[in-house]
Amino acid sequence: MIVAGTIGELDQFLAEARSSGKYVGLVPTMGALHRGHLSLVECCGAENDITVVTIFVNPAQFNDPEDLKNYPRDLGGDLQMLRETDCDVVFSPSVETVYPEPDLREFDFGMLDKIMEGHYRPGHFSGVARVVSRLFDLIKPHRAYFGEKDIQQLAIINKMAQMLGLPVEIVSCPTIRESDGLALSSRNVLLTPAQRENAILINRTLMKAAMKKDLQVGMLKKWVADTINENPFLELEYFEIVDRENLRPVSDMERAGEGSVGCIAVYAGNVRLIDNIFFSNFATL
Ligand code: PAJ
Repeated sequence: MIVAGTIGELDQFLAEARSSGKYVGLVPTMGALHRGHLSLVECCGAENDITVVTIFVNPAQFNDPEDLKNYPRDLGGDLQMLRETDCDVVFSPSVETVYPEPDLREFDFGMLDKIMEGHYRPGHFSGVARVVSRLFDLIKPHRAYFGEKDIQQLAIINKMAQMLGLPVEIVSCPTIRESDGLALSSRNVLLTPAQRENAILINRTLMKAAMKKDLQVGMLKKWVADTINENPFLELEYFEIVDRENLRPVSDMERAGEGSVGCIAVYAGNVRLIDNIFFSNFATL
């Protein structure tokens, strides 16, 4: 496994791969890796000749400076984990390498970036689009892998690739969870033991909600909000039921299609956790 910090080092490795017609897969991450990230690396390794993992905490996508400061970083641990996988190249650039000039591009994804994460984290998705388009440009992957855990990000990356006419296949991978159901997230290490214990309620509530499809949307949303907010360690930011492709809010559960997904953001203290659930995977009780 090669660790590249500069574009020169990265290019040197990729030029040969590209010229010999090898398939290049990319897994973009912000590091503090866990099994969720590694599942993307595994998928990528199985489907491509070369697997590139990027580790870059992208300042452009943090709307809260405190969140950026507190974001966990562990490059040594990350590299150790990646050495056990199919990863061929780790690209871990500096901010100056990714943004030699200030990147002032603002993307408009229509309603895709106005709701949920886009509403509560203004500018976040323009920041994500800037870094991902830049990484696509540098690496020119045939395929790029993203987790369903960040379902809105996935929809936006798909839209961006379409808008910019990028010749890359976007591949989505399922959410990996702890054995008690909590979705793996780099932010989980920031939880106190009590917050961690109570955070189980997020996935449990989503699963119960997915079995209450006979309730009206408004009632279901209220039930989720009450269930989360009754727990003293948790505070709901939003719960929305949307179509997984176009993120249009579902207003009538009876007409909700196969692709309906319940998306949630919850604060445990200062730690913001997101999760989602595909309603089609659950029968109505
Ligand atoms: P990060 O949060 O590090 O996540 C990197 C990738 O891992 C994303 O595609 C995310 O959806 C996926 N992922 C995270 N937790 C997962 C889980 N429990 N199961 C499966 N996949 C999971 O998302 C970002 O970084 C950034 O926004 C990035 C795309 C790298 C741009 O900076």
